Amino acid sequence: MQTTAVIAPVQKAAAPAALRPRVLESSPVHEAGEAIAYDAMVRRHGWLLNAPFVEMVSRAASGLTSGRVLDIGSGPGRIPIALALRHPGWEIVGTDPAADMRAAATAHAAAAGVADRVRFLSGTAERLPFPAGSFDLVISHFALHHVARPERMFDECARVLRGGGKVVIKDLCRQPGWKAALLLAFSRHVLRYDAEQLRMYRESIDAALSFAEARAALKRSKLCMATIRGFRGVDFVIDS
Ligand SMILES: C[S@@+](CC[C@H](N)C(=O)[O-])C[C@H]1O[C@@H](n2cnc3c(N)ncnc32)[C@H](O)[C@@H]1O
Repeated sequence: MQTTAVIAPVQKAAAPAALRPRVLESSPVHEAGEAIAYDAMVRRHGWLLNAPFVEMVSRAASGLTSGRVLDIGSGPGRIPIALALRHPGWEIVGTDPAADMRAAATAHAAAAGVADRVRFLSGTAERLPFPAGSFDLVISHFALHHVARPERMFDECARVLRGGGKVVIKDLCRQPGWKAALLLAFSRHVLRYDAEQLRMYRESIDAALSFAEARAALKRSKLCMATIRGFRGVDFVIDS
């Protein structure tokens, strides 16, 4: 009897969707109308945008009953204010190069009754205005994609942390075109972002690091002992 050898066709592993190159935002320092548009967005959608990070930081630093905390790229300050309300022993400094963001954040802290423990100072992630070892906890949310050389921010985090201090950084992950389009459609039709908010979101997706780029920058920085993981398929989290 004749037998026929059947050779199964070689299955090619699906290639990952190509990512476009990283493009920095047209105005990474959010002044004036951008500060207003961003503040309105996080006021309305804080449950989705900020709350997971507040929970994550509270869990990661649950043993820190009192201490100094730095928030890099603090924007309108809603995250440090929420953390200060939860952790009465924390003294928090937010830094942001945008004067309008700092003004909004300072007003929000006063309204929330935490202005004595939450301050906002001018400073960039690449050059933090603090001596080495100043903080027990360094956090940053949705600010890394504003930084052209991410390893500089990681080096600065490592420098201003005291020995044994913790870091928690969360940021957007750059997405393939189809997924960026879905996220923008969700933001437009479900979250009802206006035209300015959509423009800012589109630019921030394009400016974000890919997971591999973030991991590589972390490994060549002084924060190389920290770990990185994906979050909900759209963000990544770096912590130590
Ligand atoms: C998308 S907002 C996020 C604000 C806040 N962390 C939040 O999650 O609500 C990013 C902020 O980073 C600030 N920023 C821009 N360039 C920066 C830099 N080089 N260093 C630190 N912050 C920067 C912007 O002005 C803006 O307020």
